Amino acid sequence: MRRIEGTRTLVHGQQAMHESGQLQSSKHNHSLTRKAGANLRAMHVLVTGGAGYIGSVTCEVLQEHRHTVCVVDDLSRGHRAAIPPGVPLEVCSILDAERMRAILERERPDGVLHFAASSLVGESMRDPGLYFRNNVGGMVSLLDACVEAGCRRVLLSSSAATYGDPDEVPIPEEAPTRPTNPYGESKRICEQMLEWYRRVHGIRYGSLRYFNAAGASVERGEDHEPETHLIPLALQAALGSGNALRVFGTDYQTEDGTCVRDYIHVVDLAEAHLLTLEKLQATERLVLNLGNGSGFSVLEVIRAVEAVTGRTVPWSAAPRREGDPPRLVASSARAREVLGWRPQFDSLERIVQTAADWMQEHPRGYEREPTG
Ligand code: UFG
Repeated sequence: MRRIEGTRTLVHGQQAMHESGQLQSSKHNHSLTRKAGANLRAMHVLVTGGAGYIGSVTCEVLQEHRHTVCVVDDLSRGHRAAIPPGVPLEVCSILDAERMRAILERERPDGVLHFAASSLVGESMRDPGLYFRNNVGGMVSLLDACVEAGCRRVLLSSSAATYGDPDEVPIPEEAPTRPTNPYGESKRICEQMLEWYRRVHGIRYGSLRYFNAAGASVERGEDHEPETHLIPLALQAALGSGNALRVFGTDYQTEDGTCVRDYIHVVDLAEAHLLTLEKLQATERLVLNLGNGSGFSVLEVIRAVEAVTGRTVPWSAAPRREGDPPRLVASSARAREVLGWRPQFDSLERIVQTAADWMQEHPRGYEREPTG
């Protein structure tokens, strides 16, 4: 498999070079965002779900920018080993209102980044109660704890799933929110709660609507059990470490009949959090899409995985997965304008390459590292 060593420059700033020198420019772009983050004084940030995929990468980026971090995670889906060294972990469910209050009182963070949530579209169609309990219930206990502790800055990991099946793509933030699954509905309710806590308690908030998070930093990547996401499953299928891929739906009204998504690199997402925290010093609320603005079908993702790995992805057509909208592509014009955010990973192949590199380094994920 080809490797892009240059991805090592992403978070650690080490010198490394890809054969083609391609990532040299991404290193340069990275420093642009860094400059924007430089206005931010060192903060103490509480990260719920910091042992998860996006949360742990964001902890890494926060540390890189010299902020102190405390993680709250119940480890139901996350991995202790994903939390960067030196970051304390409180093993606690966000549903435990009493403990959340005590933790917030003790930590008195300058801001809270709230990643802890159930986040699978398919699962939410089978067990909606899980999504309303964890996502909506968790939000109540977190926000009440923030109010009591005097923490007035909260960032929510919201989702493109709040839009449902959009009338237009790329989707602007003003588009109507009509979720097609309980996961998206739970996030829409969380957004509405934030607005009420702003009005009543003066909580400043950022609601970041992620499109499809993908890729990896050098140290941290995607390790779900079971894995349900397209890119890791396609990589596993190509590398022979997983089953043949099932393509959920080949009869959608899209160019090739498969669903179209906007894949955004996890480090780009993480950086948007820092910029949003900074912006909330001067603004009360920000609702922002975070995506690249380009849509790729499932078959195009398969082809990107084949190009990166040099191997064929075995796949077969399968029925549609319930709750999947056909096409989700972001307009991220607002995030670019308001935050000065510039995603570095604007090509699908480069995103997939970082995921492939991480998988190669961690063939058995976090907790199941080979011992010999
Ligand atoms: N897919 C397959 N086969 C698989 C897995 C996925 O065909 O084995 C398809 C899905 O049907 C979908 C696309 O690949 O069309 C992407 O699926 P993922 O499961 O990777 O991601 P989702 O688009 O379902 O959801 C992700 C996050 C959500 C978030 C959403 C926003 O998991 O939390 O992106 O777009 F809301």
